[in-house]
Amino acid sequence: MSFLIQPQPPKRPNRCQLFGPGSRPALFAKMAASAADVINLDLEDSVAPSDKDMARANIIEAVNTVEWGDKYLSVRINSLDTPYWYRDVVDLMEQCGERLDQIMIPKVGCAADVYAVDALVTAIETAKGRTKKVSFEVIIESAAGLANVDEIAASSPRLEAMSLGAADFAASMGMQTTGIGGTQENYYMLQGGNQHWSDPWHWAQAAIVAACRTHGILPVDGPFGDFSDDEGYRAQSRRSATLGMVGKWAIHPKQIGIANEVFTPSAEQVAEAREILAAMETAKANGEGATVYKGRLVDIASIKQAEVIVAQSELISG
Ligand code: COA
Ligand code: MG
Repeated sequence: MSFLIQPQPPKRPNRCQLFGPGSRPALFAKMAASAADVINLDLEDSVAPSDKDMARANIIEAVNTVEWGDKYLSVRINSLDTPYWYRDVVDLMEQCGERLDQIMIPKVGCAADVYAVDALVTAIETAKGRTKKVSFEVIIESAAGLANVDEIAASSPRLEAMSLGAADFAASMGMQTTGIGGTQENYYMLQGGNQHWSDPWHWAQAAIVAACRTHGILPVDGPFGDFSDDEGYRAQSRRSATLGMVGKWAIHPKQIGIANEVFTPSAEQVAEAREILAAMETAKANGEGATVYKGRLVDIASIKQAEVIVAQSELISG
């Protein structure tokens, strides 16, 4: 480990973030009753421009009146290139009670984007005597966002989570696809006449995970648009979990159960992690740094790998 110790991310479950448009208030109670860990009420791209004011009012009322239980409650504001974002921040911060946990900032391209929102939020918090500090999540969904991902991850002490937004990211990158996440049929290698699909989102995800882990932030996989494709969503979630992401968005209730299942370490994974820890305890007692578990090497690094799984399991089971 470097002399700089890696900071720990917030200790809260973030397996599934359920989105719903602020212009569909009939969904809010269903969202609150869902099994998602995080609720993202949306003011941005699921709300038509003519509905922005109505959606803002709906969301403020819902934050203040719906029984959200132990959900982490987040509102996605409009991006900083629109005329809406300042009104989103001012009205949310002035009119929502302390039940509001988080503001999600979309299309962040540089650290100064977060700085601007932080300045406004901080001023209103102070002016209104709010005692709870609102946290931030940012969405990386542009070429600039990915190019500047490390400075964005370090941009504010409010920052708790960072998601990859596949659709806007693909558009910004000029990717030749209209798919929102998942397998892209033209992204393949040929070998012996057979097609082998590769993952075009992989490098963006890996860059986000590295920036997040460096700065103690939760890395999250964003939307998977084809909500009729359960197995595609499951496969995407498994790849994300294997890469170090802690959860994934749901844009339809069908996706919540799959995300919760994939991002909760399975009983088998936890049992194996505990066995590795026990094997290393025995090795330590014998004065050994490395030993054999089920015919394979485990050593002191294996303790840290096993602890990731046990810690995640304990965090989720509360
Ligand atoms: N949260 C909670 N419940 C939802 C929901 C959501 N996001 N989306 C749909 N439901 C409910 C419906 O109200 C319906 O409930 P019912 O059985 O009591 O009638 C049930 O789930 C089935 O819904 P369905 O008819 O399949 O979906 P729909 O046509 O009403 O809506 C979408 C489909 C995709 C438009 C809708 O799910 C949606 O708006 N998703 C979020 C989009 C979003 O926020 N995007 C921004 C982030 S990318
Ligand atoms: Mg987007």
